[in-house]
Amino acid sequence: MNPLYEKLLQCYESYKAKIDFTPEVALVLGSGLGDYAKDIRVEATLDYHEIEGFPVSTVPGHAGKFIFGYVGEVPVVCMQGRVHYYEGYEMSDVVLPARLMKLMGAKVLFLTNAAGGIQLGMKPGDFMLIKDQIASFVPSPLRGANIDELGVRFPDMSEIYDPALRGIVKKAAVELGIDLKEGTYLQLSGPQYESPKEVAMCRTLGADAVGMSTACEAIAARHMGMRIVGISCISNLACGISAKPLSHKEVQEAADAVAPKFKALVTETILGIGRENAE
Ligand code: HPA
Repeated sequence: MNPLYEKLLQCYESYKAKIDFTPEVALVLGSGLGDYAKDIRVEATLDYHEIEGFPVSTVPGHAGKFIFGYVGEVPVVCMQGRVHYYEGYEMSDVVLPARLMKLMGAKVLFLTNAAGGIQLGMKPGDFMLIKDQIASFVPSPLRGANIDELGVRFPDMSEIYDPALRGIVKKAAVELGIDLKEGTYLQLSGPQYESPKEVAMCRTLGADAVGMSTACEAIAARHMGMRIVGISCISNLACGISAKPLSHKEVQEAADAVAPKFKALVTETILGIGRENAE
């Protein structure tokens, strides 16, 4: 058996032995959303350390556990803390949690992150619905022998972010009075923030926001046929767009400042997904 698949199954067995819960939506909590669990009806939690073979984050503020519970009537699994490529993990480990949540039963992957804004007119504190992505600067999580049990060797990426789910986010934003931006997310490896010329390059390539996560997870999830929705919190204007030097602390604080609005948007979207399923 493919050793990556074997490792994934080992994690799944470890989860299955401890948790009896089938999620519909898998939610990855980015910066600012770390305490989203307070807003949901929690049924169970599972520390990443308790899952045999599971990659555990080294970044301060990225506590690691799965939270199982309900948003309205929608069963969700939340990832409180994710691992990043810049921490030194193989891409296959970075996307293992997304794959695991699919095995748990989740059909929708809801990705959130903090990102640097590039699009004209963006302000810190804005939210950007991800319409498409550029992942060409980081290795593909699908590199190496294909895991046939998960998906095909050459998966289509023409519509990574599900149009119907994007419609639900837009509707939720209107209901909440949020001026939602929409655009392309570009993933770089980090951990350094970009130079002004790198941001200029990203803009030339058509990127509206830049960050260090998400696109790789979306590729792995699309490979498995999950429906994907993604929202970036624009925590800062990318380097060179604003003259202000970037610090992780300030980026985090900016994301925290709009967290209540971000949480409301996430909740309203999940409720919308629930209504869609009920139709
Ligand atoms: N660049 C890359 N990643 C980020 C940024 C940024 O400006 N802000 C938050 N995450």
